[in-house]
Amino acid sequence: MKKIIAAAAALLVSGASFAQSVEVLHWWTSGGEAAALNVLKGNLEKQGVKWNDMPVAGGGGEQAMTALRARVTAGNPPTAVQMLGFDITDWAKQGVLADLNAVAAKEGWDKTVPKALQAFSKHDGKWIAAPVNVHSTNWVWANKEVLDKAGVTKLPASFDEFMDAAAKVQKAGFIALAHGGQPWQEATIFDGVVLSTGGIDFYRKAFISKDKAALGSDTMLKSFERMAQIRKLVDKDFSNRDWNLAAAMVINGKAGFQIMGDWAKGEFLNAKKVPGKDFVCFRFPGTQGMVSFNSDQFAMFKVGGDKAAAQVKLASAIMDPGFQSAFNVVKGSVPARTDVPDTAFDDCGKKGMKDLAEANTKNTLVGSMAHGHAVPASIKNAFYDVITRHFNGQIDSKAAVKEMVAAASN
Ligand code: BGC
Repeated sequence: MKKIIAAAAALLVSGASFAQSVEVLHWWTSGGEAAALNVLKGNLEKQGVKWNDMPVAGGGGEQAMTALRARVTAGNPPTAVQMLGFDITDWAKQGVLADLNAVAAKEGWDKTVPKALQAFSKHDGKWIAAPVNVHSTNWVWANKEVLDKAGVTKLPASFDEFMDAAAKVQKAGFIALAHGGQPWQEATIFDGVVLSTGGIDFYRKAFISKDKAALGSDTMLKSFERMAQIRKLVDKDFSNRDWNLAAAMVINGKAGFQIMGDWAKGEFLNAKKVPGKDFVCFRFPGTQGMVSFNSDQFAMFKVGGDKAAAQVKLASAIMDPGFQSAFNVVKGSVPARTDVPDTAFDDCGKKGMKDLAEANTKNTLVGSMAHGHAVPASIKNAFYDVITRHFNGQIDSKAAVKEMVAAASN
């Protein structure tokens, strides 16, 4: 008898007792991201669904998308894949995504997910992805003690004020801007710079409509000139640094600022830092009242039998309001559902939820170019290339403007 009990216990521990399983491809590999993902893993495992993890590091998901292509080509897609905006649409067009309409109708997703997200979660009237959050890219993260030591008493509200504050931080002996020299990180900064320089209508013309006059304009030139100013704020070792290591420089008081989406907050929280006390969050100067969003969604691939049943459980777990609160509190994002209360969120999270709701009503909510919600990957990657070569001094601002126009016709 004892032996049988021991064997059963061993089975439980080894996970072999799970009746169903899901395989999930994602790029949540930093400390804060992994902590958030654990909330989902735990919830599913409580329901008897085993989680087979397929992590592929790299912000923005470029590497993850490459790994995915190989799996789909081999006829063996994962159950679910973390995906951004136009990538979802691209896969939907290939006819490889599952139809989630039954669970979506049963749970009323249509009523609780904002239309801006549904534009990507649905294709041809079918739900194909479950949105887990809304992030936004036009944020700045700062170390409070560094700002105090540098004599920055007021948070910068315009680009020029930001440059003044950064100069003070540098003067006080700190690195002004923690940055990782990877194309998607430079593009993330560019989202905020273009919004700040040109405003919401200009951003829409340039990045959503791919209007050649806007892309080739003096406003775009000024945006690149500002990128060149920002380039002077980074340390000499910035090249190819991961974003979470850049966040750590602000967390550890080596640097004053990081311009990054609100997934950065997950790193601060994971390091036990408190918003308002240890660090502050504010909108990229000049973009107050505007939100450039991206939403992590789990695109569901066509899988058969048992796998399909587990997939529906995963989709339903992602859309659970309690989960959307618990997950996003840790992740730094805000819920994709509009009916989740902000009570569990810290001040940055509450601000994020309020900003999103206001931007949605005032029509100042735009898809992030850097994170796949403005243009398809082919054009996004062509924009990345221009922005990065400019940031690294390989082309000047005038040439960059010209190349942006050409990239839009990619
Ligand atoms: C995703 C975030 C992620 C970040 C860095 C973004 O594209 O939307 O969820 O934390 O990349 O990995």
